[in-house]
Amino acid sequence: MPDIHSIVVLTGAGISAESGLATFRGPDGLWEGRRVEEICTPQALAADRGLVLDFYDQRRRALAGVAPNAAHEALARLDAEWPGELLIVTQNVDDLHERAGAKRLIHMHGELLSALCERCGGRAPFAGDMIGGPRCGHCDADALRPDIVFFGEMPYAMDHIDRALMDADLFVSIGTSGAVYPAAGYVQTARYRGADTLELNLEPSAGSMMFAESRLGTASRLVPEWVEEVLRAD
Ligand code: OAD
Repeated sequence: MPDIHSIVVLTGAGISAESGLATFRGPDGLWEGRRVEEICTPQALAADRGLVLDFYDQRRRALAGVAPNAAHEALARLDAEWPGELLIVTQNVDDLHERAGAKRLIHMHGELLSALCERCGGRAPFAGDMIGGPRCGHCDADALRPDIVFFGEMPYAMDHIDRALMDADLFVSIGTSGAVYPAAGYVQTARYRGADTLELNLEPSAGSMMFAESRLGTASRLVPEWVEEVLRAD
């Protein structure tokens, strides 16, 4: 393994699949017959607020019945033991990375356990249901929505992520189909800057050809193996 100091890990729904959370584009990836892209938009929220809030209320409730799996735990171990730079960028809105203990973590698509006020823009931790739920703790408006980046909105922490990609020696993508930008383009940015690139996924993703190496299998097997490899080589 070449000299590595700085690692960026991107995760997607596939890393949480073995914890029991459905992926977006798999056979269970539909909700009431709709594609998630039809529900998770500002237009859908404006047209049918109840539908969108209910979708995320159900997802928030589902968190109570799941736990981190071996892949989340392995990344938390990497976070604790890796002496160089590390950034875990997740597209997931669940809290399984942090429950496993990961600290150097960004939720680029937002979080189920956070609320965003449409009136004042305030963000605050949130548990429970949004339908019939509380008012904004900052401005008292009755305008809370899920703190989720909808299609057409800007993901969080783009500057931070771009800087990490510019400095990365190794970029690793785990459990994501590579269908949604900007995350799907991170492999190209990292490669352009000279980073080594590795994909760990159940099946080839849309961007598999962009990676120097692609390993196919379950995240719960591949991620602990890779973490062991990286920590041993250091
Ligand atoms: P997808 O559902 O598009 O892709 C999940 C990927 O994980 C697929 O390539 C699967 O083959 C793979 N996979 C499934 N089970 C796996 C396992 N046990 N181990 C390893 N890989 C497995 O989910 P994402 O790529 O995360 O956006 O989707 C990206 C974004 O699209 C999401 O963040 C969400 C969605 O619309 C927003 O909500 C804004």
